[in-house]
Amino acid sequence: MLDTVQSLDKEISRRRTFAIISHPDAGKTTLTERILHAGGAIQMAGNVRAKREQRRTRSDWMNIEKDRGISVVTSVMTFEYGGCIFNLLDTPGHEDFSEDTYRTLTAVDAAVMVIDAAKGIEARTRKLFEICRLRDIPIVTFINKMDRESQDPFELLDEVASTLALETTPLTWPVGRAAKFLGAYDVRKQTMRLKQGIPETDDRVIALKEEVELVKAALPEFNIDDFKAGFLTPVFFGSAIKELGVHDLLDALVEFGPSPRNQESDQRLVAANEPSMTALVFKIQANMDPNHRDRIAFARICSGRLERGMKLKHTRTGKTFALHTPQFFFAQDRQLAEEAFAGDVVGIPNHGTLRIGDTLTEGEELQFTGVPYFAPEILRRVRLADAMKAKKLKQALIELAEEGVVQLFKPQDGSSPIVGVVGILQLDVLQTRLKHEYGVEIGFDTVSFTQVRWLEGEKNKIEKFINSNRSAIADDIDGDPVFLATSEFMMQRTVEMQKDLKFHDIKQIG
Ligand code: G4P
Repeated sequence: MLDTVQSLDKEISRRRTFAIISHPDAGKTTLTERILHAGGAIQMAGNVRAKREQRRTRSDWMNIEKDRGISVVTSVMTFEYGGCIFNLLDTPGHEDFSEDTYRTLTAVDAAVMVIDAAKGIEARTRKLFEICRLRDIPIVTFINKMDRESQDPFELLDEVASTLALETTPLTWPVGRAAKFLGAYDVRKQTMRLKQGIPETDDRVIALKEEVELVKAALPEFNIDDFKAGFLTPVFFGSAIKELGVHDLLDALVEFGPSPRNQESDQRLVAANEPSMTALVFKIQANMDPNHRDRIAFARICSGRLERGMKLKHTRTGKTFALHTPQFFFAQDRQLAEEAFAGDVVGIPNHGTLRIGDTLTEGEELQFTGVPYFAPEILRRVRLADAMKAKKLKQALIELAEEGVVQLFKPQDGSSPIVGVVGILQLDVLQTRLKHEYGVEIGFDTVSFTQVRWLEGEKNKIEKFINSNRSAIADDIDGDPVFLATSEFMMQRTVEMQKDLKFHDIKQIG
């Protein structure tokens, strides 16, 4: 028994589950490729992009990505490095799909923040950083493109500290700049990791030592507790394209993790190293392979050990869920997951049983909290081209809403459904997927509503409010009522007048 407990602890503590956050063009894709290459997950750096191209041509709806040059899909890549099992969760680069990104960030233990050395902190980096801060996700910073003209490293550190209110400790320091960038000096170990063929006796390396002394004197020492609490970020300098600094980054993640955290539920805090398996679905992706019309739920294992064939409790419905074919994803491939541990992310094929925010347990009645839905800012009524397809449309909208493509609201006055999105491109995805996957052509009509809020309060007070505002009430996909307003002013006025009710712009599942 003790052996089992020890080996469970050991397996869990070597999990590293993280995402990369950045502003478009800072180098996230390139860094992902090089990380996977360093982890041996792909033979040749460059394959992620190649693989993406292949998938794009295979799948019609992904043409949206191709046409607009953006990445829509979130997926996970698993690889081994330095004795640890890494799960790298990919997130869409475009801000119109930020809901997806936010939900993915609920499933990670750390984030790598990639900054373009010439541009510093950009708008989207900042926004994603704020989401990480809300959830106390520790951040590791990678300052990329050091092989080009860049800002001064001290200035860059200053900018991180002042714009994000985050302490910085450089764990490496760049040797040379721009075309003369040779690699990095490890500040703690006092060793060099340089481009092949550059001796440490090179003049440029010797000149660097003085600079490093200055850095050490000026900036705080690395403190692991401050890092884990999200107050301090270790900083690495590198060039993803030249594969410089990538190993420094991975070695750091191996060294100070963090390993899987404990997870809040509606009942109690679930510790990652509890023997009993629990998992949380944070993303659904359908039709990854259009030939199979498959639907994969991505679940993060929150505690214990998963075994293929387990009979689990699906706590939202109370039903039993047999785990026949959980899968791991690699850069090239998927593979059956015979076992997996807390921190791992597995794909679970299903026919629509699993939804975003769902919890699976070995029998315990609990629901993990914290997976968010954001109040959409763009609302449209769906107009059907062929009235004969109304039934098909209804089913398709439910399926796509369960997948998180759009949010679906059913007005209580019986009028046709309203879809809500955070970013306008989500509407393109909806339209294209309805056409290609369901054979249903739609258009959109504008609606007068611009604001959505979820209601909270005593049951009779909510009912009273609903009864007197029926034409501005709709039910979301779970049957929870929302209030719709035609302007921010109207919304504010209602909120002020309804002292007994709360109006939420984020719905936390669970
Ligand atoms: P993203 O996913 O964050 O949007 O960025 P991506 O990796 O696609 O990189 C954006 C551009 O920056 C690419 O150039 C890429 O080659 C370049 N890049 C990434 N890392 C580095 C680096 O360390 N140094 C330099 N000099 N450039 C880097 P592109 O011309 O837009 O695309 P491509 O033709 O190279 O694919």
